[in-house]
Amino acid sequence: MKILEAKNYHEMSSIAAKIIIEKVQSKPDAKLGLATGGTPIGLYEELIQDYRSNRTSYERVCTYNLDEYVGINPEDSNSYRYFMEEHLFAHINVPESQIHIPDGTAEDLEAECERYDVELNRGEGVDIQILGIGSNGHIGFNEPGTSFSSHTHIVDLTETTRKANARFFQRLEEVPTQAITMGIASILKAKEILLLVSGINKAEVMKKLLTTDEVDEQLPASALKNHHNVTIIADEEALSLLREKKFQYK
Ligand code: GLP
Repeated sequence: MKILEAKNYHEMSSIAAKIIIEKVQSKPDAKLGLATGGTPIGLYEELIQDYRSNRTSYERVCTYNLDEYVGINPEDSNSYRYFMEEHLFAHINVPESQIHIPDGTAEDLEAECERYDVELNRGEGVDIQILGIGSNGHIGFNEPGTSFSSHTHIVDLTETTRKANARFFQRLEEVPTQAITMGIASILKAKEILLLVSGINKAEVMKKLLTTDEVDEQLPASALKNHHNVTIIADEEALSLLREKKFQYK
């Protein structure tokens, strides 16, 4: 894993945006794996800015989101579909038909997971997968204990995750108890992975992740150590509990 230390959230977002923009410019039909949460919002703002000033085109790009809440309509402002529309899709020229997000309102959720895996595995794999990390080490919605061989599946969200995500809802009770998420094995199929990490509340999990060689299903993000092309872009606060600064992991 390569680690790029950014000064702050803004720099983290700019570094990530530069990598994505270069990919889309060199490969106009790139497949992008996208994430939600507070962390990638700055990256999406930079992509929109670049689209407006440099006209980088997303006309042939396909996007695949990591996850979606179960039981929330795509039109609901709390859905990840809505989040993506608001923070990225409405502002760039990616065609609707090339946007892929699991449907958390599907009648048969198991069939929806299978359908999503088929979409993901169509043609070449995802070129760049963006990831954030939960304070308990989850990636996507793969909570601690998730099998590293998992594909798209339904998860029960932990209380920690529901509480962390309650800031996007009116009340904690409104946060869904389940989600559909790409599995760890599905995520690791991407050719390149960018893990974005910002803020002091991620310092503990970064310390856990980066101070041992351990690959453990109790820390889902440690699965990334099994991938050949992972770059962690983390800001100073997120790396503040690590004594060795500017180090290379492995
Ligand atoms: C959610 C998402 C994850 C995201 C995580 C961290 O649970 N499912 O994909 O990485 O939260 O969110 P944030 O970036 O807001 O800290």
